[in-house]
Amino acid sequence: MGRQAQYHSNQMLRLPAQAVQRLRPFYEGRACLVTGGAGFIGGHLTDALLGLGASVCVIDDLSNATPAHLGELLDLDPDRLRVVHASILDPSGLADAAEGADRVFHLAAVGSVQRSIEAPERTWQVNATGTLRVLEAARAVGAGRVVFAASSSAYGDVQQFPTPETLRPSPRSPYAASKVAAEQLLAAWSRTYGLSTVALRYFNIFGPRQRADSEYAAVVAAFATRLLAGERPRIYGDGNQSRDFTHVSNAVLATLLAGASTVPLAGEVCNVAAGERTSVNELARIMARVLDAHGLEPIHDERRPGDVLHSHADLTRTRELLGYTPCTTVEQGLADTLAWYRSAQHA
Ligand SMILES: NC(=O)c1ccc[n+]([C@@H]2O[C@H](COP(=O)([O-])OP(=O)(O)OC[C@H]3O[C@@H](n4cnc5c(N)ncnc54)[C@H](O)[C@@H]3O)[C@@H](O)[C@H]2O)c1
Repeated sequence: MGRQAQYHSNQMLRLPAQAVQRLRPFYEGRACLVTGGAGFIGGHLTDALLGLGASVCVIDDLSNATPAHLGELLDLDPDRLRVVHASILDPSGLADAAEGADRVFHLAAVGSVQRSIEAPERTWQVNATGTLRVLEAARAVGAGRVVFAASSSAYGDVQQFPTPETLRPSPRSPYAASKVAAEQLLAAWSRTYGLSTVALRYFNIFGPRQRADSEYAAVVAAFATRLLAGERPRIYGDGNQSRDFTHVSNAVLATLLAGASTVPLAGEVCNVAAGERTSVNELARIMARVLDAHGLEPIHDERRPGDVLHSHADLTRTRELLGYTPCTTVEQGLADTLAWYRSAQHA
């Protein structure tokens, strides 16, 4: 089996064959930097880029990841993957990682709303100042584009669903504010220096390898671990809050399309989601059904500060600008993800 075939059987993404065929000629041999590439989404993106024939450098300080997955990839292909263990706030580490990069995928961040409420300054440093440094590093090496992992939390508690990007941001947490600030940096760097940039507002991404082992775990990962351990899932609030839960295949597909798009992008903001709305109660029901976890009714705790009530993306702009349509539904994505958590439990 060839190396690329190995990546494809290795990775857990459902990228449409047609998209892979279109993207391969663009990424083959192209030098890409992935910040935060040891993390959940960054790890899947790195898989996909290597599978498409790109050369990838990852910079990650491992503050919220283990080196395990990258280690496996390094064993598979030490020639096309380089890993720099450093913070994006460390100028020499970042300059080293960015050397020769044509596409920069900037995913490194302190990603938790709760953590940002507890330590707002650290979140600002990594997410806002860190983005400025990544933009400067991209400019220094003459990169062709920076694709940024922005967040649907930018919208706050909106009333308009599905929500278009034209709505004014209304961040409800230091995390959301830092992500909106970073979007503005991208737009300013495009206007000032002519650097091509695009910000992708990811909506509640879930999938295999998402960390479930911290109090900051995202909801699908947290429910999966508790249900598999025979414990009742914990819901913050009444559970009627809803989310546009998005399998990581959709996030990776949109990110690859954003990197490869021939549209002259200059700070545009695009929603990335499945375009479906599922309540947290419904999510718990679906997951319990898929796992045959009968009798494990959710426990309800107090709603957490900074949590938005609903999210549901309007994907019109992303479709028009990037040619993106979701490739995995919530149900498909949950079935795959739960199968992975189950097998990881027995590994
Ligand atoms: N998961 C989601 O639902 C979601 C939703 C919206 C936006 N996002 C954004 O997408 C990106 C990836 O999210 P994820 O879920 O994969 O999170 P993650 O925590 O798994 O990945 C982030 C990675 O960045 C690394 N990192 C943190 N600070 C760093 C620093 N100073 N220097 C270098 N590396 C650093 C972490 O070690 C981690 O590997 C983040 O920017 C996040 O804000 C995620």
